[in-house]
Amino acid sequence: MEGIPTQSTRAKHVGGALADAAVCTGALKVGRAGFSDVPPFLVDIAQGALQCKFNTVYLEFLGQVALARLLLGAVLRALLRGVTLDHPGWYLLRVRDGRRTLGCALVSRCSDQDGALIDIRLVAVRPDARRRGAGSTLVRHVLQCARGDTRVRCTCTVYAHEMVALVQKLDFRRTQVGRELASGVRRPDEFTYRSRAGLKRSGG
Ligand SMILES: CC(C)(COP(=O)(O)OP(=O)(O)OC[C@H]1O[C@@H](n2cnc3c(N)ncnc32)[C@H](O)[C@@H]1OP(=O)(O)O)[C@@H](O)C(=O)NCCC(=O)NCCS
Repeated sequence: MEGIPTQSTRAKHVGGALADAAVCTGALKVGRAGFSDVPPFLVDIAQGALQCKFNTVYLEFLGQVALARLLLGAVLRALLRGVTLDHPGWYLLRVRDGRRTLGCALVSRCSDQDGALIDIRLVAVRPDARRRGAGSTLVRHVLQCARGDTRVRCTCTVYAHEMVALVQKLDFRRTQVGRELASGVRRPDEFTYRSRAGLKRSGG
């Protein structure tokens, strides 16, 4: 697969990023990701795309480059402006166990016709760190950041069975199957979930 570092390359990039803990759940801490978190996250996304856990556009070099730009931009913006999830834009969050990054989540704060929204776009936990609470710690952190009328939405492919189980466990409700992009492209193999708390607030 073009452009995807090997496992040994990836290991060199793990850890050593900025410590910026915002939430601590037991030994797991969520905070803003650093530049060194981006390459292993890209690898996890590309490998997940091979199993259709993510959009297969991330198997293509141009899709990987576009995602890399988005991730690096999110890290840089947070570094330069010190913004938190209270501001509109993209964020890359990471969860650490004290020694190393276990996984990351790409989220955006935006709005739609129903008001403020935090969109969980991509979540990946290192394969050797799964099923130890890292993924749910990231999603719980986002839920805690969604104060007031802000709703939380999560979109994933229908093949992301682990993520589907995770959000259902955290009381999200499936609101949509398939998605029409602004470009007119239809993505039939996607589920959209909304946090139940947000649905109650917006009367959904
Ligand atoms: C989805 C993913 C992020 C979950 O991360 P994780 O750290 O393993 O998840 P957690 O340990 O927090 O699990 C929380 C709950 O999710 C569900 N879950 C997670 N993995 C599961 C699995 N393999 N089978 C069934 N349920 C699973 C369970 O309900 C679990 O709770 P439990 O362990 O008490 O039963 C991880 O599996 C992953 O990176 N998968 C590949 C990429 C992907 O699919 N990303 C989502 C697309 S946006």
